[in-house]
Amino acid sequence: MTADEQKRATGEAAAALVEDGMVVGLGTGSTAAWFVKALAARKLDIRGVPTSVATAELAASLGMRLTSLDEVSSIDLTVDGADEIGPGLSLIKGGGAALLREKLVWEASRRCVCIADAGKVVRTLGAFALPIEVVAFAHKTTALRISDALADCDIGVRPRLRLKDGAPVATDGGNLIYDAACGAIPDPARLAEALKGVTGVVDHGLFLDLADEALIGRETGVERLVP
Ligand code: A5P
Repeated sequence: MTADEQKRATGEAAAALVEDGMVVGLGTGSTAAWFVKALAARKLDIRGVPTSVATAELAASLGMRLTSLDEVSSIDLTVDGADEIGPGLSLIKGGGAALLREKLVWEASRRCVCIADAGKVVRTLGAFALPIEVVAFAHKTTALRISDALADCDIGVRPRLRLKDGAPVATDGGNLIYDAACGAIPDPARLAEALKGVTGVVDHGLFLDLADEALIGRETGVERLVP
């Protein structure tokens, strides 16, 4: 299977987990899009909580009933992709700049299922640059503080402002993204805490102790991993 076929297979496997009446968190990215399409095709009586404007538009175009986290307060099942899947189902997310809404939805979910192609599974997190969402005001100052926080965690890199077509990428919430090419993150929990302590940082793409299971697309089929 190609990576895209693996993504599709995991999206379809995850859609089979959804039951009538559920409130379902809808992830963001190409893998989550396969899930949304497969779920819409089942025509269940469910409500979806999208994690981005892009996912909301996709789900609405497929006729899915949508709601918001504030209307439901808790979610039965969330299915979402990841950029890296490390030991214990520790994750890096945010390659699609949706990490803040994703984390809000994941944290409100009774069950979180991560879906990904096999290429996302790593021994140590950090080869994928860690996305860090910051408020636009004084973002260059915040970036310096982020460098200090990284150094405190033995990571000697400077985060880079994410650009598209030469302009800063704005998140759905109007914030900016810095990407930290850590290479390897020796202690993800320590780094997560350090980044949350930086004023101006809204959140980061480390999703630790949040995934209940992962469905990984392999040559041989879909493999289920638990922490
Ligand atoms: C979105 O912000 C990310 O967290 C995505 O879930 C992640 O980038 C995975 O994307 P793909 O499924 O497109 O690889």
